[in-house]
Order: sequence, then structure tokens, then C-alpha cells
Amino acid sequence: MSAVPDVAGTRSELATRLDDARAAGRRIALVPTMGALHEGHASLLRTARERVGDGLVVVSVFVNPLQFGAGEDLDRYPRTLAEDLEVCGREGVDLVFAPTVEEMYPDGEPQVSVKPGPLGKVLEGKTRPGHFRGVLTVVAKLLGLVRPDVAVFGQKDYQQLTLIRRMVADLDLGVEIVGAETVREPDGLALSSRNRYLDPDERNAAVALSRALRAAQDNAAYGLDVALREARTELREHLVDLDYLVVTDPGLGELPACPPPGTPARILVAARVGTTRLIDNLPLVLGRPTGTHATEGES
Ligand code: PAF
Repeated sequence: MSAVPDVAGTRSELATRLDDARAAGRRIALVPTMGALHEGHASLLRTARERVGDGLVVVSVFVNPLQFGAGEDLDRYPRTLAEDLEVCGREGVDLVFAPTVEEMYPDGEPQVSVKPGPLGKVLEGKTRPGHFRGVLTVVAKLLGLVRPDVAVFGQKDYQQLTLIRRMVADLDLGVEIVGAETVREPDGLALSSRNRYLDPDERNAAVALSRALRAAQDNAAYGLDVALREARTELREHLVDLDYLVVTDPGLGELPACPPPGTPARILVAARVGTTRLIDNLPLVLGRPTGTHATEGES
């Protein structure tokens, strides 16, 4: 059954709905999105519902200009509010907050913003300077506007999720952050709003990212070197322009010099397929000890 969710376009409409929910003692879950909702988002909405039961599930739909760099896809980023509302309706979302840029940033670009620290300068942050400052700033604003008990983000944007957890801990924002598992196509490609940019050949090539991660996962028991070698082999077989392939500890820090068997780790990849930049990641459990933090970039 699908009910049309309420839509709040302004912060005062949002506040009224939230006040009602709080007065009724309902818990509040927030799922921040940039719209163009797909099955990956739908699973975040279900996670939010599981977390708050008959509480209020709020979804924000806002393409945040602050997190796009010059020459990135801000203008062509898909804006599909009518379809997004249908997805939200099907998933039993109570309220969609869909503000304009002026509503979110009434005084233009904020003078005070959230600095991501060292973790914001590596991996995605290296290729996209300013990106995580934009992400953290809008997430902090959304958390301030909604003041949810729980906020749900996808593990697909693993560095973003890690930084949001760091911000919430460092700034004592008092919200539980839930990281929901990545949803994949049957062939392994991680769902992403940007997949719609891929032409059929690029779509075929894009599967290299998840295959590489899976190969690393399957071979992690033989150690880091073998895992990375197998991942690189998968990437070489497809027409993708590798940005990075890296294994870190689960918090995106360096692995210990000789990680003992059973060490948890994360493998992350970013590559350009045609003009589209895709990212993906998976957890690993390392077997036999080998080298340290390992990075494989294009050479
Ligand atoms: O992951 C996203 O869609 C965005 O980065 C987020 C968290 C909604 C902030 O704009």
C-alpha cells in the first residue's frame, strides 16, 4: 500500500510537523538524500522505519551545491522529485523535506562551515577538494533542523559515513548514526544515482569495481598482497580509469605494520568509467600477515 508522504518545502513547515510528532512522543529518523531515489535509498528508508517503529521517518531531498566542485555534475545531477515521492510513499515515509537552495542557505554560502580534518583530504577528498566540507556542513544543518534520534546513511559512501560519525562524536551532536549495507545489481554493481549516466558499454565496464572488491575479499585470507593483486587483475580487464584502490583499517586509518590474521580492514576503489566517477568498498578480514597500508593508484 502506498500513501503520499507530506512534503515540507520550508523550515517552518518542517518544524510544525516535527513539533506534532515530538508532542505525541514519537521517535524521529532522518534519511538525508540528494533525491534520484533508487532501491539503495529504499533500503535506507526501510532501515529508518525499523529503527523508529511507528515514529516519524523524514527524508530530505536536496541537491547540495556546497558539495560539488567546479566542473562537477551539479547542473546535470538528476532532479526527480515526483518519482522520489512515489518511492517514499511506497516505503511508508511520513515526511519529505525538499527545500530550495535559498531555503537551506538564506544568506548564501554559510560563513561558518564544518572542517572535515585530515580524513577529508584523502581518497575522495584528494580528488574532490571541498567536497566533504560541503557534505558535513549540510548534514550538520539537516541534523540541526530535524534533530532526529537516528540518521541513516549508506555504506557505499564509506568515507562520507566515517566522517559523519567523526563529526557527530567530535561535536557531540547526540544522534545515532546508522550505516546501511550497499545494495547491488545482480552482477554486483553498487546502486548509485550516477549509474544512469553510463551508456551500455560503460555499464558493462563498471562492474569491474565490485568484481575487484569481491576478488580481494575472496583472497584476503592469503594476505594483503594477494588480495590486491587479484583486485588489480579484475580492474585491468575492463576499460576503467583507476583513481585509487586502497586497503585501510575500518576507520580509514593505516593498517598495523604486520596485521595479524583476523585483522578487519576495508578495501575502497574509485574509478572513472567514461565521464562518470564511481566509488565502491567492501569489508575484508585479512589472513596471513603481509605489508602495511597499501595503495594502488594509477601510474
Ligand atoms: O550521500 C548523499 O546523498 C549526500 O552526500 C548527503 C549525505 C545527502 C548530503 O548532501
